[in-house]
Amino acid sequence: MYTLTYESKAKSNLSNEEIENILETARNFNSQNGITGCLIFYMDKFIQILEGPKNTVQELFDNIKKDSRHSKVKMFSEDEITERNFPDWGMAYYPMNEDSTGSAEFEQFKRNLLLLADLSKPTNVTSILFWKRMKFLISSPPEKV
Ligand SMILES: Cc1cc2nc3c(=O)[nH]c(=O)nc-3n(C[C@H](O)[C@H](O)[C@H](O)COP(=O)(O)O)c2cc1C
Repeated sequence: MYTLTYESKAKSNLSNEEIENILETARNFNSQNGITGCLIFYMDKFIQILEGPKNTVQELFDNIKKDSRHSKVKMFSEDEITERNFPDWGMAYYPMNEDSTGSAEFEQFKRNLLLLADLSKPTNVTSILFWKRMKFLISSPPEKV
């Protein structure tokens, strides 16, 4: 088995509907192809970790790299693994609008993601780096408010 993690920049004005479409495609494909992991959308960035059979993950990643809904796709870690760190596939995102930054719900969303990171028990370098990167992004001040 194999795992990789990458970061990318969402295209500007990506709508909540487009995000829901990604979620729908991924949920169907991943569950049918033994792919698990997690996708986080936060402040116009995606971070994703994928786990599964090596060929399947690599072919999917080739597809994801070409997707026009994001750009600057940069893989920052990959590993051969013997056990999964994610039992299923899921996505966390906060539907953003002009005044969501700083709202009580948005702050709660960030705290929930940090809690998730603290509860995770990563057993390979790639998932350690995925959570580290996620915590870093959540803790950085927003680039634009
Ligand atoms: C940030 C991001 C993450 C994605 N993650 C997945 C995923 O985990 N699984 C999946 O099947 N498609 C995912 N997609 C969608 C793929 O890029 C692509 O649309 C999908 O593989 C269908 O490709 P096709 O239209 O060539 O059949 C993601 C897209 C983006 C922008």
